[in-house]
Amino acid sequence: MTEQSLFIIKPDAVSRGLIGEVVSRFEKKGFKIIKLKMYTFTKEKAEKFYSDHSSKPFFNELVSFITSGRVVVAVIEGNNVIATTRIMIGSTKSFEAAPGSIRGDFGLGLTDNIVHASDSTESFEKEVKVVFE
Ligand code: CMP
Repeated sequence: MTEQSLFIIKPDAVSRGLIGEVVSRFEKKGFKIIKLKMYTFTKEKAEKFYSDHSSKPFFNELVSFITSGRVVVAVIEGNNVIATTRIMIGSTKSFEAAPGSIRGDFGLGLTDNIVHASDSTESFEKEVKVVFE
């Protein structure tokens, strides 16, 4: 089923020059980039974006990291895109992510884990409002 998702190339990946690498993987898989822009999260936008995690012990660290530098935000479209991009990015803990996944191939971090992708239609709808409206 054709659907949309949102991904973020996080500050660690942008500063390491991995924008092309990440976008290219999604494009080569067959997904279409519908919207794409450089973006800098304010603290307020980051807190909204990650509001589901507001009670977690790592929340402040997460907000501080995502606001620490420029990111790329994009809307991506294609068959089963939400579940498939989650497989493609790999486990949250980059150091445990499978080789062949984006986190598995490019990172070792947890908070600084290269890339984010929406985990459900509800998350996508909320996230796209925060960064594109
Ligand atoms: P992301 O897919 O963007 O969704 C929530 C983010 O919180 C996650 O990637 C990580 O960057 C971060 N995160 C998740 N668990 C932890 C943790 N235990 N400590 C620090 N950051 C975390």
